[in-house]
Amino acid sequence: MAKLWGGRFQKSTDKKVDDFNSSIRFDKRMYKQDIKGSIAHARMLGRQGIIPQEDADKIIAELKNILSDIDAGKIEFEIDAEDIHMNIEKILTDRIGDAGKRLHTGRSRNDQVALDIRMYLMDETKIVEEMLVHALNVFVDLAAEHTETIMPGYTHLQKAQPITFAHHLMAYFEMFKRDLSRLKDCRRRMNVMPLGSGALAGTTYPLDRESVAAELGFDGVTMNSLDGVSDRDFVIELASCLSIIMMHMSRFSEELILWSSHEFSFVEMDDAFSTGSSIMPQKKNPDVAELIRGKTGRVYGHLMGLLTTMKGIPLAYNKDMQEDKEPIFDALDTVKLCLPVFCDMISTMTVKKDNMLRGAKGGFTNATDAADYLVKKGLPFREAHAVIGRMVFYAIEHNKSLDELTMDEFKKFSDIIESDIYDAISMETCVNDRKITGGPAKETVEKAIKNAREFLENR
Ligand code: ARG
Repeated sequence: MAKLWGGRFQKSTDKKVDDFNSSIRFDKRMYKQDIKGSIAHARMLGRQGIIPQEDADKIIAELKNILSDIDAGKIEFEIDAEDIHMNIEKILTDRIGDAGKRLHTGRSRNDQVALDIRMYLMDETKIVEEMLVHALNVFVDLAAEHTETIMPGYTHLQKAQPITFAHHLMAYFEMFKRDLSRLKDCRRRMNVMPLGSGALAGTTYPLDRESVAAELGFDGVTMNSLDGVSDRDFVIELASCLSIIMMHMSRFSEELILWSSHEFSFVEMDDAFSTGSSIMPQKKNPDVAELIRGKTGRVYGHLMGLLTTMKGIPLAYNKDMQEDKEPIFDALDTVKLCLPVFCDMISTMTVKKDNMLRGAKGGFTNATDAADYLVKKGLPFREAHAVIGRMVFYAIEHNKSLDELTMDEFKKFSDIIESDIYDAISMETCVNDRKITGGPAKETVEKAIKNAREFLENR
């Protein structure tokens, strides 16, 4: 097939090079954005008198036909037309002849691809944002059911202090809320229109860049033609946002995997979200959570790959930049695949409240509160810490929890201890006295849930 750029060539492209060079396999997914961008460009060329108005009209009408033909699956793209941009231009020219050949006036594929990828990634980012909002709702709804579900909080994966499951879930609410704001912020920097940058040095045609930007819904135009064609910061930023989303999903997945184990038994995944073993009949495996944790690796890999692809590229466009697409597309696909199944896995799992409470009661999670009890009775904190440390050692030796010690036993450690210690170190008191902003007390978490719901309603 004759190349659109074939004029200065004497030989046709090697077949292997056609395959090697071609990106149509993966960039065809940007066809909507490519056509939308070309329609805006053609309309502006007509309006500015750069091409005849009737040609602009023909181009626009036929691009719309091509769009519905692609939507209907009627079009086969060609490898040797290289990429989505030239495939569509070729189809257009085959259909309407000379008018079609005027479309690329004042434009290069370098600014065209920069436009398409920005538009595509903005559209996709909005979809991920909606998925995150759904996840936020899932976390808030589940938290609302568990403001009294006491469980152990951990540091170093050692039982630390009692919290509630609601408090734990609302920690993830905060993480995914930051993810949402990061995506919005990232989208803000994508939202500038590069057409008019040309191949690298702009153009002599009197293009009206601002009107194209307005028609396509951009906030503004890029301010330097070299940067306009060679900036892929927004791809890397998005890959970074997506990596952080995966990291958050992966952390909770890891917890759910641990908590589903016989040793913890804090949750049980729904049958519909678990799988069995082909040999061990008793097994119920948390494969969904494991796959989310596993897929996090490939998204991180794409971020590293993109950074590395870009690091040595001299200004302006270089073909290396075609390598931006597969990683960012796969990162997006992966996040879009994981988020809904992550949400459904969480909202269908069984929470074993009794086991959580039992977990909180073991492991001396109220030791800090026992020390605080002594502090409230006048002992300096460091001394109280030492007294309770000795008490914990004694309790371990006697296989008791702190609240199982008798008054006589308590008195051995400090004579300022009275019978009100039992209430002071109960799990409920430990949790519900932590009313500090951001703390686990029932009333505090209820406030956090209320704020969260308001945020979701007004965003
Ligand atoms: N398919 C190319 C890409 O994704 C489009 C730009 C090609 N420009 C060029 N001068 N080879 O980057």
